[in-house]
Amino acid sequence: MRKKVTIVGAGNVGATTAHWIAAKELADVVLIDVVEGIPQGKGLDLLEAMPIAKTDCHILGTNDYADTANSDIVVITAGIPRKPGMSRDDLLQTNYKIMSDVVGKVTATSPSSILIIVSNPLDAMAQAAFRQSKFNRERVIGMAGVLDSARYRSFIAEDLDVSVENVTAFVLGGHGDTMVPLPRYSSVAGIPITELLSKEKIEAIVQRTRDGGAEIVKYLKAGSAYYAPSAAVTEMAEAILKDKKKVLPCAAYLDGEYGISGYYIGVPCKLGSRGIEQILEIKLTADEDGALKKSAAAVKELCAVIGV
Ligand code: LAC
Repeated sequence: MRKKVTIVGAGNVGATTAHWIAAKELADVVLIDVVEGIPQGKGLDLLEAMPIAKTDCHILGTNDYADTANSDIVVITAGIPRKPGMSRDDLLQTNYKIMSDVVGKVTATSPSSILIIVSNPLDAMAQAAFRQSKFNRERVIGMAGVLDSARYRSFIAEDLDVSVENVTAFVLGGHGDTMVPLPRYSSVAGIPITELLSKEKIEAIVQRTRDGGAEIVKYLKAGSAYYAPSAAVTEMAEAILKDKKKVLPCAAYLDGEYGISGYYIGVPCKLGSRGIEQILEIKLTADEDGALKKSAAAVKELCAVIGV
């Protein structure tokens, strides 16, 4: 049977996710938004591209949650994006209201789905969706680490003039200023980057990764990044739809792992048909552990504001 992915929010992130998913022929796609006409128009336009893309995905744009029924995955991108000078945290109250409304609707129509949360501030929105959905933690996943590590990998590849395919990198922690890139687990064809780049260069790349979202917002002014975020969602969705057991950094609800309980934070997760099938625990140095705890404290603060 064909898989079905609903994407809530037909803005740039939502529509571009629909594009990647359809281009890779992963699933039929329902694009839904409160704004009338936009999901219908973008959905139809994408459907009409399928003969050229040579894929048989069906794409439907709609304002009606009945059309989203029985989705395998629901990607939630709904919410307002950042403007220059705003942090992801400035979006908290507005996006929490939108998230609550959306989660209520999609859990009613797709009770067996896996939720991939994309709206910011990411970790707090994932926590809000987890609490409200009452789904088990395997089925509510936040997208951040794949995006952050892709940024990190692209900067490393560019600096060393090597293929992006050679670069693996890991980013832990929250999707924000407190994210924790791990240089010692980042490598080029298996060679740790600490052997190839100076400490100063690595620090500069780490900082650029932390500021990666803001760098794009500064250029776009009226919105935030969408090509890389939607590619990141697509990699997660593909791992789930194809039961790939792929290890990717995702925001997951921790229940004692890494000494953290009761919060969403970015950690290495194995993604398969059941969602997060395993959280991999690696031994952190004291500095890394301190940075992760600091990141978790920032998430906790935001969750307290909205009471989730
Ligand atoms: C970014 C936003 C989507 O990092 O959080 O670009």
